[in-house]
Amino acid sequence: MAKLWLRGFQLIKPGLDSVAQQQLVECLRPILRAAPLFSPEVPGGGKMSVRMTSAGAFGWVSDASGYRYSERHPSGRRWPDIPDPILQIWRDTTGLDRLPDCCLINYYGEGARMGLHQDKDEADFSYPVVSISLGDDGLLRIGNQVRGGKTDTVWLGSGDVVVMGGEARLTYHGVDRIRFKSSRLLPKGGRINLTLRVVT
Ligand code: SIN
Ligand code: MN
Repeated sequence: MAKLWLRGFQLIKPGLDSVAQQQLVECLRPILRAAPLFSPEVPGGGKMSVRMTSAGAFGWVSDASGYRYSERHPSGRRWPDIPDPILQIWRDTTGLDRLPDCCLINYYGEGARMGLHQDKDEADFSYPVVSISLGDDGLLRIGNQVRGGKTDTVWLGSGDVVVMGGEARLTYHGVDRIRFKSSRLLPKGGRINLTLRVVT
């Protein structure tokens, strides 16, 4: 596992091996059955191209009343628990005793992208956000702690892990595009990104 830094983000790349990647996909299946992916609305109209769901005490939702964490899936049910192999990646990369209370699951199908944004709906920015990529390659764009200015990009492959913490916790980031069907991990193609967050 090579570790490199880009604009304060720690990139562990190549990250998880193919056995570990397959294990994660297996433990996501029951979560996706219990808490199906949905297309969040953008406040002001329209839908995000990325489909989402979550595991943990909190999940991230967005609808006409805005972006927020919620204790319930749009179906009204509580989110499934975060599986232990995912929590273990958090322990291994952060060394923290405190565990994340949200695992946001983003699914990028063909053509999906995510605009530059900060992760700032959490209560305490001293905790990092840990991202795990599975499936197709995704082009991560990393900017600055304020909007605008120069940016850099890096392709994230299946198994790559990114730790967004410290000074870079509030750095703008987004995903410009994916290389659809570049990986054979997910039977229908696409990219899954997991982000582990301490919400409260
Ligand atoms: C996110 O910022 O929530 C997702 C980042 C990614 O898909 O790599
Ligand atoms: Mn984010």
